[in-house]
Amino acid sequence: MFSQVTVLGAGQMGSGIAQVIAQKNISVQLVDLSEDALKIAQEKIENSLNKLYQKKIITLNPNEVLRNIQFSSEFSVIKNSELVIEAVPENKELKLKVFNQISSTVTSDTIIASNTSSISLTQLAEAVSYPERVAGLHFMNPVPLMKLVEIIRAKQTTDSVFKKLCEFTIFLDKEFVCSLDRPGFIVNRILMPMINEAVFVLEEGIASVEDIDKAMKLGCHFPMGPLALADLIGLDTCLSIMEVLQEGLGNKYTPCPLLKKYVKEGRLGKKTGKGFFDY
Ligand code: CAA
Repeated sequence: MFSQVTVLGAGQMGSGIAQVIAQKNISVQLVDLSEDALKIAQEKIENSLNKLYQKKIITLNPNEVLRNIQFSSEFSVIKNSELVIEAVPENKELKLKVFNQISSTVTSDTIIASNTSSISLTQLAEAVSYPERVAGLHFMNPVPLMKLVEIIRAKQTTDSVFKKLCEFTIFLDKEFVCSLDRPGFIVNRILMPMINEAVFVLEEGIASVEDIDKAMKLGCHFPMGPLALADLIGLDTCLSIMEVLQEGLGNKYTPCPLLKKYVKEGRLGKKTGKGFFDY
């Protein structure tokens, strides 16, 4: 199994991924250029670990787990990693730039994975030397609680890289599903149009925020309503995913204007304190 892993990007996905790796006693570096983001990530990880420990979901105590995580704002620390997981914001140009930087810093046998929710791995692989070591490793939010990881093979991914990532996922006590490299893969191809439709139902005045979520919780047994889930994921991320679906699959996937409006206003969900709900 890997003994040194790097996670790039200390947002809610990156910090959750670093946490679940550290919980399995693997040394992990959480790298972000922003010291503030690293500080917030550390607090979130501590809170999450304390909860999981109190509930006996993890056996290592939170301090032991935290000792497995190095928080760093220096990109160069990634150079000895056996696996780098990119978890920067869902923006193709940014991810291509980061992939290129990773490729010029690590050795040729480092596996490079992306936590992208929707962007083509085959295109990201084109940004690196030895593209056969690139694949998608897509965790779900909140990472410490959600069982699933989608593994996406780029056209270039070798069988051995794919196999190592499958084994790693199982080692993390997660389950995986495999998807072809198509916009949104499995989960977001199905989930995001549903969330987008919930926003249309709101925009058209058909029902209130509360009733839309209540309908899907009590009517379809969802653990949370689609609008609360959008707030948890981040409305900016939801919009980026819808745009990737629209670009790749056509106008059936056009983002709802109200979703675009909220993102433009900086109303991004839980992380900004205001989305469809207030926090
Ligand atoms: N770490 C540890 N504990 C956590 C936690 C975390 N990160 N997040 C929540 N919890 C705890 C809460 O503190 C709470 O603990 P207490 O019971 O002790 O208060 C417990 O989990 C349950 O939480 P809540 O009471 O707030 O609410 P809940 O029972 O509804 O569970 C949930 C929360 C697990 C998030 C559940 O609502 C759920 O499964 N929601 C759906 C999430 C989902 O669909 N995720 C996938 C999104 S798609 C995606 O991620 C892909 C993408 O690319 C966008």
